[in-house]
Order: sequence, then structure tokens, then C-alpha cells
Amino acid sequence: MKTRKVGIVGVGHVGAHTAYSLAIQGIADEIVLVDTNKPRVGSEFQDLFDSIPYMPNRVHLTNGTYEDLEDCDVIVNSAGDITLLLGSEDRSRELRYTVPCVHTWADQLGKTSFDGIIVNISNPCDVVTREIALATGLPKGHVLGTGTGLDTARLVSQIAEATHVNAHSIQAYMIGEHGNSMFAGWSAVTMNGLPLDEFLDKYQDAKFDKAEIEQLGRHGGWVTFSYKHATEYAIATTAAKMVKAILHDERIIMPASTELTGEYGQNGVFVGVPVLLGKNGVEQVIELSLTDEELDKLNDSCNAIRANMALADEIEGRA
Ligand code: LAC
Repeated sequence: MKTRKVGIVGVGHVGAHTAYSLAIQGIADEIVLVDTNKPRVGSEFQDLFDSIPYMPNRVHLTNGTYEDLEDCDVIVNSAGDITLLLGSEDRSRELRYTVPCVHTWADQLGKTSFDGIIVNISNPCDVVTREIALATGLPKGHVLGTGTGLDTARLVSQIAEATHVNAHSIQAYMIGEHGNSMFAGWSAVTMNGLPLDEFLDKYQDAKFDKAEIEQLGRHGGWVTFSYKHATEYAIATTAAKMVKAILHDERIIMPASTELTGEYGQNGVFVGVPVLLGKNGVEQVIELSLTDEELDKLNDSCNAIRANMALADEIEGRA
């Protein structure tokens, strides 16, 4: 019997809620919590441990070390310092902490026989996802980021609210940087197969302001962050959805941060685009037929990511 084992590196607000989301949904059979802040991880471990009797499935928890990650099927990286974002609305501000942080654990992981999939959450997500791919040398697709998978949930929630249609009947994508240059791929939005514009013409009486809805989706994380100085539920459910797709080889299509190698005319950049997600992580990049305007926005977003890639290269001595 093969149990489904997930490691969480960095057990702050995001990592702890991801662990809880995996447990409460019965997605993982084993969860390893790893954090250098031992009092914090001890506290989160105890709280999760005490919740198990009322969880849907038995969950084996480990307050672990990097070595305990060796036989994980999936590792989630959520190591960061959210205080670096206080007073800003720029996820790039964590880069100087999160990029070097990758190597504190990836270098240790490299001494083990780990051959699973890594899902990165840490910001700036696209750049840190690339850093993990570089640091681990795992096969293409085996390192991905939550990226605009999270922002797509925020966008779809706004579209559902504006149209009174169940979010599960809406296919939409936020595309690009998990950051301020992301954009809604309106040309690809359908209401269970009916293009959005046709739906609006036929069935929508209330106003539908695309620019307003796109901004509400793009800015949702900062609204959440403004009081509790963290985001928890939306990112945790996004990460759990991706982990579930990998563990169950679901082969679903959803946005994730992945490396483009020619798609959309882009190369060598990790960015949020629709992918086919299964046991091998990103099985395939799914290339939408974007409009010229959308392709230009994607190019601008990739260039914003490239600027932060250059900073990461400088920090890591690759420049
Ligand atoms: C957010 C963080 C995870 O957007 O970047 O919630």
C-alpha cells in the first residue's frame, strides 16, 4: 500500500494552512513539517496533531528535518518572510530572502534520493520556482509554482459574483506574473463552453466591468493582506488542489507557474499559464489562442519576471 506523503518547507501562515488543507480534505496520508523556527513548527505540529481525530482520514504527521523529505511524493515550499511585504504591494520585496532560502533546503535535499515533485508558493513565485528548478536540477515540469493558479481563483470568484453563476461553471485564467503585471485572459473565458461575451449579451442584465473585475482579482491578495498581514485560505486551497492533481494523476488543466520553452513566443521564463497537471507535475503547457493585445501583456509580464530573474542571478553569483 503506497501512502501519499507531502512535505511542507516553511510552516508560517501559508505552510500551516496548506498542511491543514491537505489534512482536512484527506489529500495526504503523511505530512512532514520542516521549519528552522522550531518553536513555531512545534506549535503548528501540535495544533494539527490535535485535530487528527476529527479529520476524514488518518494523517501521520512528522515534525521533521530535511532528511525526512527524502521519500515525499510532493514537497511544497512556503519558506518566506512576509514582514518584508509590509507597507508595500510588491511581492518582489521578498526575493532577497526567499531566493537564498531555497538553497538552505534544496542543497540538503540534493543529498537525498528525493525524486518527487516540488510545488513552490514562496514569492516572488515565478522567480523562486525557477530558483528551485535550478537548485535541484529536477526534470522539466517536476518543479512548478502556484503562480496565477491562485489569482485565477480570485478572478473566477469575481466573475461568479458578477454573473451569479457557480464558479465551477466558469473557465477563466489569470495569466502572467504572480504579481502586479498579471492580466485576465478575457478572450479565453467561457461559461461552461459559452464564450463570456455571448453569455453577457444573452443573459446578463447587471453591469459587467471587465477592467474592474480584473483589478479585483489582481488585488484580492492585498485586500486580504491589509489587515492580517498574510494570506492563508485561498493560497492553501490552491496548493492543495495542485498537490491532489499530482498525487492522483488527475490530468486537469489549470494555471501554474512553469517554464516556457517557445510557447507564446517566450523562452527561459517561469510564468503563470494553463498547464496539464498530473503525476509528473506539468505534463504539458496548454497554449491558448491569445489576442495580440494579450500576447503583448504576456510579453510585458515575462519581462517583469526577467528583471527579477536578473536580480536572483546577481544574488546567487550567476550574473
Ligand atoms: C497571495 C500570495 C500567496 O497572493 O502571494 O496570496
